[in-house]
Amino acid sequence: MKTPKPQCRPEIAPKFDAFDSATERKLTGSAWFMAEPRDVAAQTVPAPVTECPLSTLVGELVSQVDAADPSQAGHAVRVAALATMLGSSIGMDAAELRQLRIAALLHDVGKILVPTEILRKAGPLTVAEASTVRRHTVYGGTILRRIPVLAFAASTARWHHERWDGLGYPDGMVGTDIPLHARVVSVADALDAMTSVRAYRPAISLEAAFFELEAQSGAQFDPLIVAAFGPLVGANGFRDSWDNLANKIEALPAAA
Ligand SMILES: [Fe+2]
Repeated sequence: MKTPKPQCRPEIAPKFDAFDSATERKLTGSAWFMAEPRDVAAQTVPAPVTECPLSTLVGELVSQVDAADPSQAGHAVRVAALATMLGSSIGMDAAELRQLRIAALLHDVGKILVPTEILRKAGPLTVAEASTVRRHTVYGGTILRRIPVLAFAASTARWHHERWDGLGYPDGMVGTDIPLHARVVSVADALDAMTSVRAYRPAISLEAAFFELEAQSGAQFDPLIVAAFGPLVGANGFRDSWDNLANKIEALPAAA
């Protein structure tokens, strides 16, 4: 008799009463939610369930976000790397950096509940479509709150589009009322967005993006976080390429 390998099963609460039935079908039908592999019914011996490594669960969720909008694949990983670097720059210890990195990896997880035809739309979004995309913050917070081992990341998912001046969304929070991890991810998210190609605009250089962050310091972004780029900026300006940044990220204790 064939003995199946132990299966990793994420502990995800199968109850999403905040969503309508169509959304719930999409959520519960997604690969990361599947409680068992598809061929488990054909096995003669039930596969033992083992605890799922957190990295596996996080990786599955990130894969789902990347699959929802392939044009932005890799965004979560880059934002997590940048956020980790910024967190290190403002003095976070290894344990907090690890939580920050996971929260950054999952900041856009709510996009798995946004219709892909909107996420992948090539042209400008209508007002209604843009409003739907903005809901990814609320969806992400709700999803992560219901996964006990990832609940710490829910606030970052919900509030990473808040602004220091209170003009962000979804709740219009102001200044340090916005959780620190969300403020860090906001800066990292913006830097990666500006240096990535979008359907409606080209990428700008890392240096130009950094100066845009400085221009928004105290308005969109927490000045402390923008200033945290200081150690990463040479005396003659921001000269690092993504490759150089990647090397620095590799050296961080929480990046492993
Ligand atoms: Fe986002």
